[in-house]
Amino acid sequence: MTQDEMKFDVAQAALKYVVKDTIIGVGTGSTANFFIDALATMKDDIIGAVASSVATAERLEGHGIKVFDLNDVESISVYIDGADESDDGLNLIKGGGGALTREKIVAAVAEQFVCIADESKLVSVMGDFPLPVEVIPMAANHVKRIIEKEIGGQAILRDFTTDNGNHILDIQGLKITDAKALETKLDSIVGMVTNGLFANRGANVLLLGTQNGVKVVGA
Ligand code: A5P
Repeated sequence: MTQDEMKFDVAQAALKYVVKDTIIGVGTGSTANFFIDALATMKDDIIGAVASSVATAERLEGHGIKVFDLNDVESISVYIDGADESDDGLNLIKGGGGALTREKIVAAVAEQFVCIADESKLVSVMGDFPLPVEVIPMAANHVKRIIEKEIGGQAILRDFTTDNGNHILDIQGLKITDAKALETKLDSIVGMVTNGLFANRGANVLLLGTQNGVKVVGA
């Protein structure tokens, strides 16, 4: 089975977590795209969706799924999104696609977070995937210096502008053994908008596409 076939399978499996007659949150990335395409088959069962990026909003609308501004909704039943890495505590690294800030906001509002990924994303210690942090452009070098001095690793500026008009630093060389503490520490850096650790609000369930079918972690 290819990686795309595993992503397709977890996307299909996520449909059973969609709460009918509610507004759901939808993530960003290649796995989330498989989910959006799957969601189109039951679009009349939901009121609509809040998107975590411009790209996701366009794909949802392309399928005729109503997209809501987060400020116009009172609740989100479930947020469904991919991840770049997960540990077995369902702490995640996200932001490989640069959408981490809106993803973290939608995840914070949602009652449940269902993460969908292929088996390559589950690791024992996170950090091989560079940890993205979104920064206010004028603060990029300041945030880089603070990270390298106080956290460690090497913070590399990505050639990318986010949907919010900000920049991304990718922190290489971390071994993340206490994701919650690191997330909190990064959050205290002035000039950093969001870090890509989803630990203090991690996933509730991880659906993992494997060669032997979809495995449910943490249900
Ligand atoms: C987007 O910014 C990311 O957080 C994605 O959710 C993450 O990179 C997973 O993407 P893939 O499903 O494409 O691997």
